[in-house]
Amino acid sequence: MTNYTEIMNWIKILSLEDYSAGNFIRLIRVKGKKICLVKVGDEFFATQSRCPHAGADLSQGFCKDKKLICAFHRYEYDLQTGRGAPGQGDYINIYPLEQREDGLYIGLKEKWNFIKKLFDL
Ligand code: FES
Repeated sequence: MTNYTEIMNWIKILSLEDYSAGNFIRLIRVKGKKICLVKVGDEFFATQSRCPHAGADLSQGFCKDKKLICAFHRYEYDLQTGRGAPGQGDYINIYPLEQREDGLYIGLKEKWNFIKKLFDL
């Protein structure tokens, strides 16, 4: 039986040369989605770019202890779980990443793939 939760499109977002760049927070666009891509040390994280508090661009923020901090009102989000700091009562979406031989890939669920798989098209 097919596990439909695992249907994803994997899209290359960084080539190997970009791995050597230092820490960064970048806004990238993937298939029409705005993604906040974060590099901390050797680790990458991908989150939604829109802050759930008041809509600021999270890629304008900064990182501290694997937390992404919004530049506008300093709300904090855990880069691994997406959870907001205690008392905020919110979260951000975290997207799966895979480091492959030729670069970094992001996994995005797509409804059309789900429908195609469902009906064996
Ligand atoms: S808009 Fe991000 S903390 Fe307010």
